[in-house]
Formats: sequence, C-alpha cells, structure tokens
Amino acid sequence: MKDLKIRYQMVKDAADFFRILKNPNFIYFLVTVNSIAEEKDSLRKNTQRRKNNESYNYTFLYKNKVVGGGGVRINRTRPYIGELGYFLDEKYWGRGLTTAFVKLMEQEGFSKLGLSRIEILMRPENKASEKVAIKNGYQKEGRLKKVIKDREGKMHDAFIYAKVL
Ligand SMILES: CC(C)(COP(=O)(O)OP(=O)(O)OC[C@H]1O[C@@H](n2cnc3c(N)ncnc32)[C@H](O)[C@@H]1OP(=O)(O)O)[C@@H](O)C(=O)NCCC(=O)NCCS
Repeated sequence: MKDLKIRYQMVKDAADFFRILKNPNFIYFLVTVNSIAEEKDSLRKNTQRRKNNESYNYTFLYKNKVVGGGGVRINRTRPYIGELGYFLDEKYWGRGLTTAFVKLMEQEGFSKLGLSRIEILMRPENKASEKVAIKNGYQKEGRLKKVIKDREGKMHDAFIYAKVL
C-alpha cells in the first residue's frame, strides 16, 4: 500500500501515542498510558530493548503522520520466534492499514531479525485483530487457555495465529 512506512519508535512520538492510546474503544489492548511523560519514559527504553534483543518497536506512518504502532517481541528462550502486536488510531480503522503495517513488520522479522516463526495472539472477541492475522496469511493453531491477564488481573483465553518459514 502506498504512503505507508514503519520506523523505530522515537521519544518524540509520545504525544501522538498518548492521544491514540487513551481511547476507551481500545477494549482488548492492554497497554495503559497515564501521561505523555510516562509514555516518553517507556519510549526511552526502546534502544536498550533492541540491544537486549527483547523487542523491536515500530511507529506506523501514513503520509508521514504517526497513525499507530506495533512491535515484535522476541521469545526469551527461543529467539527465533517473535510475537507481533499492533494498534492504530481509531480514525483510520477499517481501511486495511494495519494489515499492511503487519506485512512491513513481518518483513523486518523474517529478513532483518532472522526469525523463522512469527505469532500473533488475540482475544477471541477481538475480531478486527483476528482479521488482520488472517488477511496476512497467518494460520490459526488453536486457543490458548488463560494466557492474557487484563488490567483487573483477570485471565482470558487467546487465539494463536502463526506464520513459519
Ligand atoms: C486491531 C486494529 C489494529 C485493526 O486495525 P485496522 O487498520 O482497522 O485493520 P484492517 O483494516 O487492516 O483490518 C480489519 C478487518 O477487521 C474487520 N473488522 C473490524 N471490526 C470487526 C468486527 N467487530 N467483526 C468482524 N470484523 C471486523 C474489518 O472490516 C477489516 O476487514 P476487511 O478488510 O475484510 O473489511 C484496530 O482495531 C485497533 O487498533 N484496535 C485496538 C488495539 C488492538 O486491539 N490491537 C490488537 C491487540 S491483539
């Protein structure tokens, strides 16, 4: 898709991320951001996270505007496995943008990071997220019991989708 780019997240993205993430319609997304300052602190850790081969977090740009973000989290004991996560400004939902951004993150994961397996987990209720995985050709491997802890500490099941080389 034209006009879409990803790059590593930067501290200057904090205000945009805060604005996008404070949306009450992000029902199944677990990252809570209380202030721009807190978001800046989190973004400052990204360089170290990459150095530790822990996670690689990206900003989604559409026509050079920040519209969302995502990341590849590397499995600690099996560093050839990565898990993708993503979110998009509600203003842009339903236009196929996240599907295209996932493709770009996947290319980074397989080509640059040398992964051989990429997973996407989502709550079964999160139909938009599931659709993003399906449209990118990920295969459903099953339902994981009580793997996602919500903000209140309650555990939820997740579907697991994966793509392997
Ligand atoms: C999940 C999310 C990133 C999807 O972004 P998006 O750019 O709208 O995704 P796309 O447009 O690429 O694809 C979404 C698909 O889901 C479909 N969809 C959306 N809501 C749906 C619903 N309630 N039921 C069924 N399908 C739905 C859309 O129609 C679209 O499919 P289509 O292209 O066949 O019409 C966005 O909804 C979001 O940021 N949600 C909050 C954060 C989140 O939940 N992240 C994922 C955590 S696992």
